[in-house]
Amino acid sequence: MTTWAPLLRFEGVIAGYGGGDVLKGVNYSMEEGGVTCIVGPNGSGKSTLLKTVSGLLRPRLGQIFFKGEPIVGRSPREILKLGIVQVPQQHSLFREMTVHENVELGAFLVKDRSVVAERMAMVREMFPIVAERAKDKAGSLSGGQQRLVEFARCLMLEPELVVLDEPSMGLDPKTLRIMLDTVKMMNSMGRSILLVEQNARQGLKLSSHGVVLENGQVRLSGTGDEVLNNPDIAALYLGGSVRAKMAASTSEVKENT
Ligand SMILES: Nc1ncnc2c1ncn2[C@@H]1O[C@H](COP(=O)(O)OP(=O)(O)OP(=O)(O)O)[C@@H](O)[C@H]1O
Ligand SMILES: [Mg+2]
Repeated sequence: MTTWAPLLRFEGVIAGYGGGDVLKGVNYSMEEGGVTCIVGPNGSGKSTLLKTVSGLLRPRLGQIFFKGEPIVGRSPREILKLGIVQVPQQHSLFREMTVHENVELGAFLVKDRSVVAERMAMVREMFPIVAERAKDKAGSLSGGQQRLVEFARCLMLEPELVVLDEPSMGLDPKTLRIMLDTVKMMNSMGRSILLVEQNARQGLKLSSHGVVLENGQVRLSGTGDEVLNNPDIAALYLGGSVRAKMAASTSEVKENT
C-alpha cells in the first residue's frame, strides 16, 4: 500500500483578476520533500498560481489543499503560519529599512527572541551578505544581493514549503550558482520547494518534478527529467526566441560550473 500523500494539491483552480480567468482549471499534486519546478511561457499564469498558494489571490473556483487542509480563503498571514513562505517575483524588501531589520521581519510570527537570534545566526552564516551589509538600507543593495536577503528572510520562519517566483532573475553567474546551491541546501534541510523558473532547462535539472503551465492549465507534468526530455516540450514551450535564449544561457551555465 502506498502512503504517498501530496503536500500541496490543486483541484480545479480557476482564478483571475476580474478581466477573465487566468487560471483555467489547474489540477496538480505536489509531492512532499522534493523540488517542483513550474515552467511556461510569459503570461501563462505561473505567478498567478503561486499567488493563490500564498493567499494573495483567492481563486474563483476550486480548492488548494496543504497537507490535506483546504487553504482557499485563508489570509496570507494564516498561510504563513501553516508553514508556506513565498519569495515573490518582484523585489519585496523594505528599501528604507536595514538589511538586518528586513531579515528579522521574516520572523515576525516567532515570539521567542532566543529562537529568532538562533535563526538570525544561521542565516548570517548561510548568506554572508546579511552580516556584511547588516546596517545598510536594503534599497542600497544590488538586485542580486536583495534576492539573497529575501532568501535569508524567508528562512527565518523555518517554512515547510518555500515558494520561489523566478529566483534566478537578474543574477550574475556566481550569484546564480549560490542561489541554485541554496535551493538544494534548503531542500536537503527538509524544506519542500515550489519554484517558477524562466530558464526551463536549468530549473528542471535542479528539480525532482516538473510542471509545464500553458494558458492557465497544466499541459505536462512528471519528474524533472521526464519533462525536460519530453519531445512535446519543444513545441509547447521552447519556441524560436526562447530556444535561442536558452541555448545561450545553457552554455553560460556550463562555462560556470
Ligand atoms: N495584478 C494583475 N491584474 C490584472 N491582470 C494581471 C495581474 N497580474 C497578472 N495579470 C495577468 O494575468 C496573466 C498571467 O500573468 P502571470 O503574471 O501569472 O504570468 P506568468 O506566467 O508569471 O508570466 P511571466 O513569465 O512573465 O512572469 C497575464 O495576462 C497578466 O496580464
Ligand atoms: Mg511570473
